[in-house]
Amino acid sequence: MNKTVIGVLASGRGSNLQAIVDAIEAGRLNAKIGAVISDNPNANVLTRMADTDIPTICIDRRQFSSRQEFEAAVAEELNIHHVELVVLAGFMRILTAYFIDRFGGRIMNIHPALLPSFPGENAQQQALDYGAKVSGCTVHFVDEGMDSGPIILQEAVPILEDDTADTLSERILHAEHILYPRALALYCEGRLKLEGRRVRII
Ligand code: GRF
Repeated sequence: MNKTVIGVLASGRGSNLQAIVDAIEAGRLNAKIGAVISDNPNANVLTRMADTDIPTICIDRRQFSSRQEFEAAVAEELNIHHVELVVLAGFMRILTAYFIDRFGGRIMNIHPALLPSFPGENAQQQALDYGAKVSGCTVHFVDEGMDSGPIILQEAVPILEDDTADTLSERILHAEHILYPRALALYCEGRLKLEGRRVRII
């Protein structure tokens, strides 16, 4: 079976990207990373890929006068690298309809909470502040809303009595590193079928 070409958009640390790279190398994910694009010139994710042959590209948002121009530049790079599936991995920008229309149904994100609870930033702190006993992570398709697209996979993680945002984030991140490659593998195997809001695994 052909490898699906993935384009990863990331703004920071890049641990989910690393988990995806590891899954590919271990033969758990039949994909190829066509490009890693960061909007942040100082992102650790760019140096993390330095020893690989994966193309890394920095597209600095500050060099564009509008969101649409920035997104057009990102879309162009993705197309140059023949990207079939766009994977958001800690990408700290909301994509507009302009971009989503171009890659409709082919953009995934991972969020560190059990959606639809605690969307947006600081999801782990939101869960703690709310007093939730369980949180987790969600892989979903991206639509125009904030963390509102159809859910692909979720994994629950307990919230412990003495948790801080840091300890909870670490526990959730561990689950993310397993869940994201699994969701990508399902996509690459053609096993995800969108029916309205529901993503069926076939
Ligand atoms: C993860 O917690 C992910 O859920 C969120 O951003 C963080 C990215 O971490 N969307 P990393 O850059 O993959 O290490």
